[in-house]
Amino acid sequence: MADPNEKMSGKYTVQRFPAVADPDDAGYSRCTTWVQAVSHGFHQQRRDDEYLAKTLVAYQKDKRELTGVYVNGTVPVHSLGTDVPVATYATMRKDLNIGFGRQLESNLVTAVTVRGTHRRNGILRGMITADLEAAKDDGLAMAALTASEASIYGRFGFGVATFERSIKVDTGPRFRLRGQPLGTVEVADPAVLLDVAPQVFERVQRLSPGSIDRQEYYRLLASGSIGHDGKPDTSVRCALHYDLSGSLDGYVSYRFKGWDHKPYTMEIVDLVAASNAAYLDLWRFLGSIDLIDEVTWAEAPVDDPLAWALDDPRCIEASEIRDMLWLRILDTPAALRARCFPVAGRLVLEVSDSLDLAGGTWVLESDGGAAAVVNEASGEAPDLILDVTDLASIYLGAVSPVTLAAAGRVSEKAAGAAFLAQQLFAVERSAHCLTHF
Ligand SMILES: CC(C)(COP(=O)(O)OP(=O)(O)OC[C@H]1O[C@@H](n2cnc3c(N)ncnc32)[C@H](O)[C@@H]1OP(=O)(O)O)[C@@H](O)C(=O)NCCC(=O)NCCS
Repeated sequence: MADPNEKMSGKYTVQRFPAVADPDDAGYSRCTTWVQAVSHGFHQQRRDDEYLAKTLVAYQKDKRELTGVYVNGTVPVHSLGTDVPVATYATMRKDLNIGFGRQLESNLVTAVTVRGTHRRNGILRGMITADLEAAKDDGLAMAALTASEASIYGRFGFGVATFERSIKVDTGPRFRLRGQPLGTVEVADPAVLLDVAPQVFERVQRLSPGSIDRQEYYRLLASGSIGHDGKPDTSVRCALHYDLSGSLDGYVSYRFKGWDHKPYTMEIVDLVAASNAAYLDLWRFLGSIDLIDEVTWAEAPVDDPLAWALDDPRCIEASEIRDMLWLRILDTPAALRARCFPVAGRLVLEVSDSLDLAGGTWVLESDGGAAAVVNEASGEAPDLILDVTDLASIYLGAVSPVTLAAAGRVSEKAAGAAFLAQQLFAVERSAHCLTHF
């Protein structure tokens, strides 16, 4: 196993340590300095003690493992000290819904920064390759991240697996939803979301391909307990959805953008619905808020039932589609065996991997039932040749292998193999991930 604490070169030392939340713990100041370095890397403000304390409590709950890269020896006088990492990287483990209710524990990568004055020295490459090897050695078949730029992570075997878009919805007179409410919506004190949000999300996690179990931060954000500046956000409001039996199955938290902002706009902070009815009823509620002309949502699904439920789908003004979840398969046979393939079929897949973690040739045989058989191919010619990045992209059914073949990324050696792969990797509803990390 790669040692994440080994010296990468004479210039740097890598330290990997758990997030600790107790200010009396000897490791606390190392953690606060690390959080400040992440803020620096993402051009955010210097964090105060309250923010650091709240953040580290949340990080500890998520069992985050923090990595810092430190300069060996001395640094010039007046510059940041050697206790401040020049690079940061963190991981936590959460379940990924891989379709048909199946969950795959995955290594989530986050907080990747390298200080500008140390970039392009191979620091990211060193951190990420050591971490991916360690995660694989630890038995995980999948890693995941969200990317600030689309050009960074493909070289490490990550492929885009889900997408999202921002929407602005005109909630003026044109806004009319088909059908009738199938439950009720009630306004509540957002503080209830501290308890309710994880319960509702747990149901969504079971039902939604592409969903990743949420980190502690989300219930704090949804309830307004913490805003992006670390202070409580008192502008957050919330509404809850109850199904016909009175049980709670959805919520929306939202904030008004102010009377200076025209059109008068309500911004969705978090919208989580565990049923189709809850989703549409919550939109019905949002569309009915008086004095408001527009509702915005930054994390809307690409394949959005709202568009089909509106009498006038042009009420929605959508941004360009963005990549959201990137997956990295660490162990191809384990990742394939974990999936449920909804149709019968047999494919020989030749997978290349420049990091040598998940490459090889395998025969995938599905009877369209619960378990697929995956065996190493013994001399059989491949039907499809693809890179591990492309296997990640087709894994949740959100990217078609037919399209990747047309793009020259996937090589189809047997006629119809890409289309068969498209059917095999399909999931029961469009993959969407509501969890940023
Ligand atoms: C992105 C970032 C982490 C890269 O760190 P780094 O230590 O300079 O990267 P490395 O020197 O290890 O480079 C690894 C490879 O990635 C490439 N690369 C790094 N950053 C890149 C970028 N922004 N765009 C395209 N390629 C990039 C390098 O050219 C190198 O390629 P090679 O190994 O094929 O020659 C760093 O520039 C950074 O902190 N940026 C600001 C914060 C950020 O965007 N973080 C990512 C959050 S998802």
